[in-house]
Amino acid sequence: MKVVIIGASRGLGLELTRKFLEEGHTVAAGFRNHPSHALEELSVQYSDKAMLFSSDVKNEEEIRKGAERCAGFLQEADALCNAAGVLLPGDRVNLLHQSSVDELRETFEVNTIGAVIVAKNFYPVIKKGGKLLTVTSEGPAIKNCGTWVPCYALSKTAATKVSGIFNRSIEDVDFYSVHPGRMNTDMGRTTAQIEPQEAAEGFYRLMTGETPMSRDEWYINYKGEPMDA
Ligand SMILES: NC(=O)c1ccc[n+]([C@@H]2O[C@H](COP(=O)([O-])OP(=O)(O)OC[C@H]3O[C@@H](n4cnc5c(N)ncnc54)[C@H](OP(=O)(O)O)[C@@H]3O)[C@@H](O)[C@H]2O)c1
Repeated sequence: MKVVIIGASRGLGLELTRKFLEEGHTVAAGFRNHPSHALEELSVQYSDKAMLFSSDVKNEEEIRKGAERCAGFLQEADALCNAAGVLLPGDRVNLLHQSSVDELRETFEVNTIGAVIVAKNFYPVIKKGGKLLTVTSEGPAIKNCGTWVPCYALSKTAATKVSGIFNRSIEDVDFYSVHPGRMNTDMGRTTAQIEPQEAAEGFYRLMTGETPMSRDEWYINYKGEPMDA
């Protein structure tokens, strides 16, 4: 398979990149600013199968160029996973009325607007019938309302719906919003229930088709189970 993974320097994105390369697939892996040491090591180890490209999801021009580079490297991709996301420090301790609007804006720039920027620029690189997975989260239910990490929660609620709207707008590619579980990563370490390797295995099976999925059920978890919205 030929896949694109964005947010590949750390956490879920790094583990998913590792999994695809270990299994012999070809991967275009997107990083922000500079690739991590671990991602660079993977690209050296699998130099014939890996291409690294810069992909700050806040920067549409960079993402547009990244899509062009991926098209050159892969011709067309079977699947893409956008794992880029932020949970900013103030959001871990503040309620919404205490939040900094700058943090709220920054969180939306990456988690929500970034999800749209990636989907709209990359879907033409994905083959007909291919998949574009946006990593969102749990708990976007409108009435069942918690207070924790409010900027993040608002941004991921909106980001979850991005896939539904794209599915209604574009026939050729299937769009999914996928909850990865509570992972032991830089972001999730305080609430972790699973290691990112377990989530990466799940995403791998979704992207390869080992776990069946259908665009009618476009909000799912990493095991392919429907999520409540
Ligand atoms: N961990 C959890 O328990 C959990 C639960 C639900 C959902 N999620 C979601 O799962 C995804 C992966 O999370 P994680 O736990 O692996 O997080 P993580 O370890 O904090 O990694 C976040 C990744 O996103 C990248 N990123 C941040 N801002 C970016 C930008 N502007 N453009 C491109 N990439 C950017 C980071 O790149 P740098 O290394 O350059 O910063 C890093 O590779 C995220 O979307 C997150 O919201 C996580």
